[in-house]
Amino acid sequence: MAALLGLLFFQGTTKPEDKATSSHLAFSPDMPANIKAIVDQKCYGCHNAESKNEKGKAKLDWDAFEASKKAKQMATKGKIAEALEAGEMPPAKFLENKPEGKLTEAELATLLEWSAGKKKSN
Ligand code: HEC
Repeated sequence: MAALLGLLFFQGTTKPEDKATSSHLAFSPDMPANIKAIVDQKCYGCHNAESKNEKGKAKLDWDAFEASKKAKQMATKGKIAEALEAGEMPPAKFLENKPEGKLTEAELATLLEWSAGKKKSN
């Protein structure tokens, strides 16, 4: 088992190109792990530099967000909070075909708390 793990680890470390091509949010020390996990699953697909969803990409690119300065991040967070509060994201049209993409109550609360600094009211 240790040998197998060693092999997996070895393969994992010898293929850096895998990381560059994977469609996942890059590791960021600034973004809390729980936020990153939700964004990665529920938002990143449409909002990343390589996204085919041109409109989504133009409005919000998490890769750019990660790389941007604190002040810019604050402004973007405000937009995120607005979109979430209005129930606009993920888009309703998209959820018709992919209902599992909807944010759970807990995920929504977590994202709102992070983006708007708000606690859930109930
Ligand atoms: C199915 C693709 C898709 C998913 C998934 C998605 N978005 Fe979007 N998002 C879009 C599109 C398309 C727009 C542009 C909407 C428009 O301009 O009408 C957008 C716009 C936005 C905007 C900009 C709003 C504005 O008007 O400035 C924010 C913020 C946003 N999304 C946040 C999120 C968050 C947070 C998530 C995850 C909870 C998410 N999105 C998931 C496609 C998506």
